[in-house]
Amino acid sequence: MIESILSKDELTREDLVMLLQADAEQRNIIYKKAAQVKEQYVGRKVYFRGLIEMSNVCSKNCFYCGIRSGNTSPKRYSLTDDEIVDVAKFAWENKYGSLAIQTGEVDTKEFVLRVERLLDKIHRATNSELGITLSMGEQTEETYRRWFEHGASRYLLRIETSNRNLYYKLHPNDKHHSFEQRIECLHSLRRAGYQVGTGVMIGLPFQTIGDLADDLMWLRNMDIDMVGMGPYVEHPDTPLWQYRNQLLPLEERFNLGIKMIALLRIIMKDINIAAPTALQAIDPLGREKGIKVGANVVMPNITPGTYRNDYKLYDNKPCMDDAADDCKNCLEARIHLTGDEVGYGEQGNSMHYRKRQMPNV
Ligand code: 5AD
Ligand code: SF4
Ligand code: FES
Repeated sequence: MIESILSKDELTREDLVMLLQADAEQRNIIYKKAAQVKEQYVGRKVYFRGLIEMSNVCSKNCFYCGIRSGNTSPKRYSLTDDEIVDVAKFAWENKYGSLAIQTGEVDTKEFVLRVERLLDKIHRATNSELGITLSMGEQTEETYRRWFEHGASRYLLRIETSNRNLYYKLHPNDKHHSFEQRIECLHSLRRAGYQVGTGVMIGLPFQTIGDLADDLMWLRNMDIDMVGMGPYVEHPDTPLWQYRNQLLPLEERFNLGIKMIALLRIIMKDINIAAPTALQAIDPLGREKGIKVGANVVMPNITPGTYRNDYKLYDNKPCMDDAADDCKNCLEARIHLTGDEVGYGEQGNSMHYRKRQMPNV
């Protein structure tokens, strides 16, 4: 039964709902298929994106996030340009092919200019050899274009959920948190030329299996190039904490997260899929499990250690006390255990993006 669904060329929403409900035995059939698809379409390589958590200052107030503006507990910080360029050099010298720079959302003119200058500095310091992913929230198309011209080539903006009603249960209902605007930003990013990444959280309060199947269909319809998605992990200093007793047990959220990665690999064969850190917040072997069922990107944290504790979006975040070197060695060993190899010195751009740039090849 599962086998016949999996052998179809295109899975329907019904198929996906059914597969998301697969029991422990059937799950393994899905995982095996996903591993085959990965090997065939993107190969058994995992690419590093050195993750820099540039600042936890955020103007938004998402109900799930530990660094939302309404939360007074985290100490707010911003790395200096020098601190960022230093860790970028670390990544380059250690043959990480790419960087991912993440911040809370700020859209002032000064910030936009600062990022431009920063991109220039990083490229100068690293011989323009690193792929750079930005994750800096919703910005104008003009801003996206400027950053692209200064050498950012990928952008991550998660939709969080493709269900509009659910989106408004997770965010304040105001103009700073518009679902339509977020989708429009993804279109702007695509027009500006980026490899476009998005993703969802899995196991949110009020979320159904049908919603997750819709998320997968939505990702496919958006023809997205890269995805980072992982389990929702509740944070005590957030409004959604009040629903903690209505959530699926962590282990089930984790299993759903792994299933979502596997199914996404099956329906979007040549995209880049990250094994998110949130998986490891639940299971010490979480990221390895993600890699085994289709993920091909990991993001070793290279944020200077003193700041890591202040970038807590969710509880139980791993690598809090580790240095950049520790994450490198740790992840390399973990990836080898999965049987894959690390794509050292390679940017690991999305194959899907390359193909849509050259449709006739
Ligand atoms: N649990 C899991 N993921 C979270 N994020 C924010 N808060 C949480 C949480 N409590 C994710 C969101 C956001 C990304 C930066 O981190 O998907 O887009
Ligand atoms: Fe800000 Fe992102 Fe957290 Fe929302 S999820 S509060 S935009 S850092
Ligand atoms: Fe950071 Fe393992 S990845 S210590």
